[in-house]
Formats: sequence, C-alpha cells, structure tokens
Amino acid sequence: MGTKILFIYLPYLTAAIFLGGIAYRLWKWSKTPVPLRIVLTPAPQTRFGVAWRLLGDVLWFPSLFKSDRLLWAGGLAFHVLLWLVLLRHLRYFFYPLPSWIVEIQTLGLYAGYFLPLPVFFLLIRRLTMERIIYITVLEDLFALLLLLAVSVTGVLLTQFFRSDVVEIKAIILGLLHLRPIVPDVHWLFALHFFLVMVLIGYFPLGKLMHAGGLFLSPTHNQRANFTERFVNPWDFPVAYNEHNLFPPEKYREMLSKSSQGSPS
Ligand code: HEM
Repeated sequence: MGTKILFIYLPYLTAAIFLGGIAYRLWKWSKTPVPLRIVLTPAPQTRFGVAWRLLGDVLWFPSLFKSDRLLWAGGLAFHVLLWLVLLRHLRYFFYPLPSWIVEIQTLGLYAGYFLPLPVFFLLIRRLTMERIIYITVLEDLFALLLLLAVSVTGVLLTQFFRSDVVEIKAIILGLLHLRPIVPDVHWLFALHFFLVMVLIGYFPLGKLMHAGGLFLSPTHNQRANFTERFVNPWDFPVAYNEHNLFPPEKYREMLSKSSQGSPS
C-alpha cells in the first residue's frame, strides 16, 4: 500500500499542487495593483531593454554580484549545477531520447557530484553568519536541507545503488501516460523520489517561487521612462462608504482652506 501511495497517489497530488499553486500565485501577483512607477534604477527605458535586463537577472544575478560576491558565486554555482542535473534527468521523461539529452548526460553527472557543495555552503552561511542568522526563518533552512537531502540521495544512488534506467523510465512514463505502475525499487530510490515529491509540492508554496516572481516584480519589469506620464491602470472609481469619517467633500474643503493659508 505504501508503494502505491508513493508512486501513484503522491505524484498526481504533487503535480496538482505544483501546477495549481504556480497558476494561483502568478494570477495573484498579476492582479496586484501597481499604482506607481517603482522601477529600480538605473533601469532600461524600452521594453526590449526590460526583457534584456530580466534575462540578465535570470542568468547571472547582476544585483547580487554588486552586493555580495561570495553569495553570488555560491548562488550561481548552485543554479547552474541544478539546471544541468535537471536536464540530465530528462532521460527518464522521453522515449525516444532526443540526441541533445544524450549529449548532456556526462556533464549532468559531474554537475550532480558537485551540487551538494554550494547547497552546503548556503546552509553553513545561514548558520554561521550572525547578521544572516538574525533574518533566517525556519523555511530558509527547510528549503536548503530539502535540496541537500535530494542531491545527496541522488549522488548516493549514482555511486552505490545504481538504478535500472529502464525501470525508472517505466515509472515516469507510466505516470505521464496515466498508466502508473507500482514498482519494486530500492529504498534509497524511494527516498529520493519521496523527497523530490516534497520539493515539487513545496515549490509554489514558499520562497522557491522567486523563480516565477521575478518576472512579475514591478521594480524589475517596469521601464524608466520618467518623461512619459505614468497612468495608473487601477485608478477606477472606488465604492464610497457613507459612514466614512473623512468623506471626500470634507477633504476637499480642508485642502482649499489650507491652500488659502487657514490652519486646518
Ligand atoms: C521525478 C523526479 C526524479 C527522479 C525519478 C529521479 C531519479 C534519480 C535517479 C534514478 C538517480 C540515479 C541515477 C543513476 O543511477 O545514474 C538520480 C540521481 C540524482 N538526482 Fe534525481 N530524480 C528526480 C529528481 C531530482 C531533482 C528534482 C533533483 C535536484 C534537485 C535531483 C538530484 C539528483 C542528483 C544530484 C543525482 C546524482 C547525479 C545524477 O546521477 O544525475 N533529482 N535521480
């Protein structure tokens, strides 16, 4: 029964939380009023410039580079290695395999060996630097410990308990084609898989969603075209409450009094 829960119910539940959670958070962010221009300067003036800046933010974290070189190096190493590992894992998701996935396998394998290092560095940084401990919450440690556990179990699998690629592929393709199977696998693979499910389910719920949030952040996706008038797109008439102690007429009256110099 446990295996059935792990390899059938949990993956579908996780997929629903992941997709629904991402859609919900992106929808909520896109609905949040941005009544002012709050772009982080120096910023580009054209839409192409904004897209270019966002691309830079995604690929090499320039603002982190300016503020903290060591964290930048650790963060960049982590993200690059993670991407290579994820691309290597695509071999479980495709049949037949596109040739570029075959070609990336060795690079992805070495990336996997090194992946625990930057995660460990990020964890040690949080646990040892006083000013970072001060702003660290439990979620920060949870995310890092989870990533560490996923990457260490992955490396252990590769080194000591080599999994049968055909069997793993059957599990993943079975799930994708809605014909899931209940496999008989090593406990370490089951653990790796379980931790990955927790990671995927947690992704939209917490800080890891910065991956999507970046694109909807007004400080980054606005233009610095200060010569043009900024029209607040959310400036629709607001329903007025009669019991409001400070009605607009009174406010207008006070404004005109104060502009005539009388004290309010
Ligand atoms: C459905 C999702 C996943 C499955 C089925 C899966 C399965 C596996 C398997 C079977 C191995 C051993 C490979 C071998 O024996 O050569 C492995 C290795 C590894 N996994 Fe995963 N994994 C998944 C997701 C992830 C994720 C999300 C991460 C990282 C955050 C990760 C990190 C690693 C690492 C670092 C290794 C060792 C390097 C390598 O062989 O690629 N895995 N994984």
